[in-house]
Amino acid sequence: MKPRLIVSRQMPGPVGARIRAEFDCPWPEGRDMDAEEMLQQVRDTQAEALLFSSHLKLDAAVIARIPDHVRIAATCSVGFEHIDVAAARARGLPVTNTPDVLTDCTADLTMLLILGACRRAHEYEAIMRAGWRRGYGLGEMLGVRASGKRLGIVGLGRIGQAVARRARGFNMRILYNNPRRLPEDIEEGATYFADLREMLPQCDILTLHARGGPATAGLMNAETFALLPKGAVFVNASRGGLVDEEALIAALRSGHLFAAGLDVYHNEPAFDLRLAELPNTFLFPHMGSATIETRTAMGMRALDNIAAVLAGRPPIDPLWN
Ligand code: DGY
Repeated sequence: MKPRLIVSRQMPGPVGARIRAEFDCPWPEGRDMDAEEMLQQVRDTQAEALLFSSHLKLDAAVIARIPDHVRIAATCSVGFEHIDVAAARARGLPVTNTPDVLTDCTADLTMLLILGACRRAHEYEAIMRAGWRRGYGLGEMLGVRASGKRLGIVGLGRIGQAVARRARGFNMRILYNNPRRLPEDIEEGATYFADLREMLPQCDILTLHARGGPATAGLMNAETFALLPKGAVFVNASRGGLVDEEALIAALRSGHLFAAGLDVYHNEPAFDLRLAELPNTFLFPHMGSATIETRTAMGMRALDNIAAVLAGRPPIDPLWN
């Protein structure tokens, strides 16, 4: 008999094929399951494993209602602020994420946001799609140069480091703020700032790669945006909760920020539409890991974690030990 699995979200084709081959799983019909539906399915099928992602909040109340026959909950994401890990640990439920496999694609997308925001990609695209029939003067519709600039990275973890490697190819000077200074071989010449407030005035471009959650909530707010030099470019492909969006909108409207490139928002998918009305934003719908290769690798990694635990082995990517 195949192990019983509940999947709360549509998966890429090869992941779906593996699920059908290795698990007994009622397939969701192309829409996200919420926590109530998931719990209902778990009870109905006596499922032994859960595969979900950041759309589904596994808070303490939901975790308390997960029946004991569930032996693992695997999120198909690297971020895990949607999971109350302490509650999972307290009741001995293994929870896993999918680190590493999405690092490169998220860093690629961050560079796209940096370049797109600096070079007014959204406005140029809109001009072309509207039929571009008037040539621009040499002083019109100018962006800001990205290469050679000072790039501040908040959170020089796996993704931050991958962004730094790419940015060096654009001759950018790397500054970073992290809870701890990193060894020199990881820094690769980047300048460390223990205090974010000291780094901000020196950044031409700022990109966030810190974890979401209470410790980083509202890290970028009216006070910290004001510390960036006038004309700075702001990029966020980590979590929307790191940013006070009122303050961001004010800084974009006033011209204190030249532009922002965003992949994440406070409320997803119902993001603040004022961001879309601004000409100086370059916006993506939370797609950092959204390539065929990476989403497949993430799904496979989540299934590897599930298979390991159901076979009595330790999880590969445990969120608690
Ligand atoms: C992640 O993996 O954390 C991505 O942001 C998708 O949620």
